[in-house]
Amino acid sequence: MYANDKMLSGLDRARVVRLIDEHRKDWSLQQAFYLDPDIFALERELWFPRQWVIVAHLSEVPEKGSYVIRQLFDEEIIVARHGDGEDDVAAYYNVCTHRGSRLCVKDGRGKLLVCPYHAWSFRLTGELQTRRDLPEGVDGDSLGLHKVPIKVIGGLVMCGLDAASLPDIEPAAAGLTDLLRENGVADARIVARKNYLTKANWKLVLENFLECYHCRPAHPEYFRVNGHVKVTAMRDDYNAAEWKQEIDAWHSVIGDAEFHKGVWEPGDLDTMPFAMHRKPIGSGRLTLSDDGQPVSCLMGGRGKFDGGENGFRIGRLSFLSAPNDYLTMFQMIPRNANETDVILTWLVDKDAETSVDVDKISWMWDVTTVQDKKITEDNADGIASRAYRPGPYTPLESQTAFFIETYLSQMRALITGERRDE
Ligand code: FES
Ligand code: FE
Repeated sequence: MYANDKMLSGLDRARVVRLIDEHRKDWSLQQAFYLDPDIFALERELWFPRQWVIVAHLSEVPEKGSYVIRQLFDEEIIVARHGDGEDDVAAYYNVCTHRGSRLCVKDGRGKLLVCPYHAWSFRLTGELQTRRDLPEGVDGDSLGLHKVPIKVIGGLVMCGLDAASLPDIEPAAAGLTDLLRENGVADARIVARKNYLTKANWKLVLENFLECYHCRPAHPEYFRVNGHVKVTAMRDDYNAAEWKQEIDAWHSVIGDAEFHKGVWEPGDLDTMPFAMHRKPIGSGRLTLSDDGQPVSCLMGGRGKFDGGENGFRIGRLSFLSAPNDYLTMFQMIPRNANETDVILTWLVDKDAETSVDVDKISWMWDVTTVQDKKITEDNADGIASRAYRPGPYTPLESQTAFFIETYLSQMRALITGERRDE
């Protein structure tokens, strides 16, 4: 159903493998990986169908009958709630099984999904409802909607393109459910959403998101607010030792010092990766806000502010930032070789006052993401030059280097059919 219209020939694939084999470890990629539509087509065929991504928050389909249209890579899908339980949510390609029209044109609520073209209707569980016009001999049971793999984890609606290719999500579900509950994710409501369309290859967006080497020059606000960045920045004009003491003190109160949890193996194509990291905000700040003061009520049943932020990686393209009183959900959606949707969604506790100040809640990640869009687009512009050559990742870009190694080892395995673990 999502076969490529533009398949690379065997020869072109050999060229990509050669480029991968020529890659210098811990250096940025060769130009083609950031620009070439043929490599994007190959990623679309091989890599994207293996990624679970966040497509929605459960509160967007709050009750039986609600449905929303969302983007899953370059596909439009319908996420529909067909029952009252957390797992009574299904996802379908937004394609009618009669003659292929878009089925839903906007979010809505109802017992049936009705196609605007010839009015075929479908149950929220996907079966074709109207059958009276079917020609004799056509089995209406075979004309249900095309299902999209789906899993709800702690309020996050996760989907992927291809059931046969997707990695096992259950270890991530088991590992994340309690952690997300402690951060109030399932009991949250959305207060704002914004798309920062970034004119750059999706890997540049991720490379930038995974390092904070650029935080000092590019993010004055983020740098001012986040003490931990100052330690990792290792600059002479900041007293890192003093801040290190502050971090140690924070961990002694909060426990789970430098708490990392997750499954994250570079070559592993069979298990959905996830990770969580707790870090202190610092300098008496209670949350990620301009003045460090709370912007909403505590989430996750906490009794008091602990001065920290929990950062989640959920799969390879979705992220969550969780200080104590609000959440920011990040979706990186590759559009084509040169454009990436970066969608941020802000959430607060569902019982928070309706008068919460959305500008204060979104301030930190809005100002930071506007800056990230600019530096990533400048990065893409430079890479397009004939003068571009790969450059070295510094120790402060180790997570970025790790992502690149992961990407290359997986692409190589998928192109050649040689799996590392075999
Ligand atoms: Fe949907 Fe005809 S295409 S009813
Ligand atoms: Fe940044």
